[in-house]
Amino acid sequence: MKIVTIIGARPQFIKAATVSRQFRGVPDIHEILVHTGQHYDENMSEVFFRELEIPLPDFNLGVGSGTHAYQTGMMMIKIEEVLLREKPDFTLVYGDTNSTIAGSLSSVKLHIPVAHVEAGLRSFNRSMPEEINRIVTDRISDLLFAPTTTAIKNLENEGLAGNACFTGDVMYDSVLYYAASIRSNPEKFNTKGIPGLYLLATIHRAENTDNPENILNILEAFSRIDYPVIFPVHPRTRKVISSIADIPSNVHVINPVGYLEMLKLTMNAHKVITDSGGLQKEAYFLGKQCITIRNETEWVETLHDHWNILTGTLPGKILEAIHSNIPISPRKTEFGNGKAGAVILEKLHGRV
Ligand code: UD1
Ligand code: UDP
Repeated sequence: MKIVTIIGARPQFIKAATVSRQFRGVPDIHEILVHTGQHYDENMSEVFFRELEIPLPDFNLGVGSGTHAYQTGMMMIKIEEVLLREKPDFTLVYGDTNSTIAGSLSSVKLHIPVAHVEAGLRSFNRSMPEEINRIVTDRISDLLFAPTTTAIKNLENEGLAGNACFTGDVMYDSVLYYAASIRSNPEKFNTKGIPGLYLLATIHRAENTDNPENILNILEAFSRIDYPVIFPVHPRTRKVISSIADIPSNVHVINPVGYLEMLKLTMNAHKVITDSGGLQKEAYFLGKQCITIRNETEWVETLHDHWNILTGTLPGKILEAIHSNIPISPRKTEFGNGKAGAVILEKLHGRV
């Protein structure tokens, strides 16, 4: 069975690491890895392949950055060439980026079935580019691997239940797998310069970075926090903050870090503040309260008992959440049993 996997952005490397590990060693599965080149800086791409032992891509399409249409269109042209050459049984896509929609659209137009990992997520906010990528990809995919029962319900509501199956969340698998190795090698990561009590922050959503008022509000909130904020900055955000604002003195801007260092920073943080989809869940899995600087989340399971608080970008709301009590209630096990990768392998295997 030949599978072409299309990845291109940071969270997709992390998700694919878990699933590809399952494929390796299965004699009749041949995975061809295609990197679209959507993310290309060393610390946005290569570090994940190295640390997470993902095989080097068979094809790197080198598409890089651009407008939505340019980036997606260039990816489609180049993915089509790979698919015509490789003629896989399935194309596997992850999440909700432009690499996802480019992979799924190119594939179905060649009548090659598509399997979508992280299907059924919805923010119900169509101004997010990710929401369009998800809706379209789910509509045209043949196999919808849903990480939560909420995702299954969303797919049912759109008439897509026939293609859907619950797998659990591959990012939960990843956290269990890599957090164990971090805990058993505590000396592995250099935490020199990282304060004892800190808040971990990331921001990269277009709705926050492309609106100066939002980014200024977020930095204003950070400046009013009584302790340091460790802020690994996405390149999109670095561009914006370097041109529009002074960085508050308690905010430690650092370059993006590898996944293992990020997990370690999350494990040791007082709280997490983010607009990232993946980091909201990692905070939850690791028992850290998350403040999500958005008005909605796809990961509604994390909201119970204030484990995750949606604040939008008004400083008062953000600070109120930062000062709220840390929950002590048990977290729910709605993200599967840490074996989502194995379920995906089994379902794909069963289809050919
Ligand atoms: C993309 C995804 C988003 C996902 C995020 C994960 C889309 C529409 N968005 O957003 O869903 O949450 O990845 O991080 O697919 N840049 C660099 N170096 C890089 C990569 C990007 O400098 O290696 C800069 C470029 O200026 C680029 C900008 O970041 O224009 C945005 O990159 P892009 O991949 O278009 O979107 P992200 O914001 O990363
Ligand atoms: N991440 C990382 N280094 C960083 C910031 C984030 O490894 O400097 C990881 C984070 O732990 C999570 C994933 O990247 O696993 C989330 O990616 P991102 O926030 O870019 O995208 P999203 O999940 O919002 O699509």
